[in-house]
Amino acid sequence: MKAIVAMDQAAAAAGITLAERPEPTPAINDVVVEVHASGFVPAEWEWPSTWVDRSGHDRAQAIIGHEFAGVVSSLGYGTTGLSLGQRVFGITDWHRDGTLAEYAAVEARNLAPLPGNVDFTVGASLPISGLTAWQGLFQHGRLQAGQSVLAHGAAGAVGSVVTQLAREFGAYVIGTGRAADRQAALDFGANAFLDLDHEDLDDIGGVDLVFDVIGGDIQGRSASIIRPGGTLVSVVGPVEARPVDGLAVDFVVESVPSQLVEIVDRVRDGRLRTHIGTVATLDDAIPALNPTERRKGKTVIRVRP
Ligand SMILES: NC(=O)c1ccc[n+]([C@@H]2O[C@H](COP(=O)([O-])OP(=O)(O)OC[C@H]3O[C@@H](n4cnc5c(N)ncnc54)[C@H](OP(=O)(O)O)[C@@H]3O)[C@@H](O)[C@H]2O)c1
Repeated sequence: MKAIVAMDQAAAAAGITLAERPEPTPAINDVVVEVHASGFVPAEWEWPSTWVDRSGHDRAQAIIGHEFAGVVSSLGYGTTGLSLGQRVFGITDWHRDGTLAEYAAVEARNLAPLPGNVDFTVGASLPISGLTAWQGLFQHGRLQAGQSVLAHGAAGAVGSVVTQLAREFGAYVIGTGRAADRQAALDFGANAFLDLDHEDLDDIGGVDLVFDVIGGDIQGRSASIIRPGGTLVSVVGPVEARPVDGLAVDFVVESVPSQLVEIVDRVRDGRLRTHIGTVATLDDAIPALNPTERRKGKTVIRVRP
C-alpha cells in the first residue's frame, strides 16, 4: 500500500516521502480501516512518539498522521463493537504506524461511528482538534458557564474549536492570534480579539481559563492574568509558567469515542464548524504537508477520492 513515512528527524517535514509499505494486519481488539481521509498536525515532528516506540527503540520510517476517517475492512481476534463496512473516525495510537496510508490498524476502542451524512474529509479533520478542545475545556479546565476564556490561536485548528465550544457552553471568549486572524476568530464566535503582535495581554484584566497552543513567553504572560482559582491549560508540552493562585495542566489528547460523538453531532447540526485549510490527495501529499508558506487551518489528505 502507499503510505507517507518520516525518514529523518532533523529534516522534519522536508524528510517525508511517499513509500510502498505492507498492508497492516489487525492485532487483538484491532480493526484495520480502509483510510478515506487523514488529518495532520504540523508539529508531529516534535512529538517523541514519532521517532521512538514505548520501549525507547527507534521507529525507523514510521507512517505519520494520527487522525482519520474511513471504513472498517477487517477485524482482529476478539474485536467487538465495530463491524465490517462501518464508517468510523478517531485517533490512532501515537506510537503505532499512522493514518497517512491506504490502510491503518487501530484499537477498536479508539474509534467512533462516523454518521453517513458527514463527509470523510470533515470526519478526518475533527478528532485531534475537536478532542483537544473538548478535553482541555471540560476535563482539564473544568469550564463553567459565565467564566472567561483566553483562547490562544483562535483562528487555528484547535483554537477555533476551543472558541466555538467555550461560547456554546456560556463562556466569554477572548481569542488571540495575529492581526490577520481577527475576523476569523470573531467569525468562530470570539467575543473579543487580541492581536498578540501589537496589543498587550495585561490590558485584558483577568480571565478564568487560558487555553494555550503557543507556549513560551506568551504562556508566561498569560499565566499572570489568571484569576485566583483559575486554570492554565497547555497543549504544547510541560507548563513553564504557573498562575499564582490557580492550576496549571498540560496534557496530550486521547481518543474518547463518546466525546467524538458529541463533536460530530455538533458538526451535523451546525453548532460547530471545522477549520479545514488544505485538502490534497495522497499522491500530492508531500508538498501539502511541507508547504513553502504558512497555511491556516487543518491539512487533510484525501486518501481515496
Ligand atoms: N497536546 C496535545 O494533545 C495537542 C493536540 C493538538 C495540537 N497540539 C499542539 O497545539 C499547537 C497548535 O495546533 P493547531 O493544530 O491548532 O495549529 P494551528 O492550526 O497552526 O493553530 C495555531 C494558531 O496559533 C497562531 N500562533 C502561533 N504562534 C503565534 C504567535 N506567536 N503569535 C500569534 N499567533 C500565533 C497560529 O498563527 P500562525 O499560523 O500565523 O503562526 C495559528 O493561527 C501545536 O503545537 C500542536 O502540536 C497539541
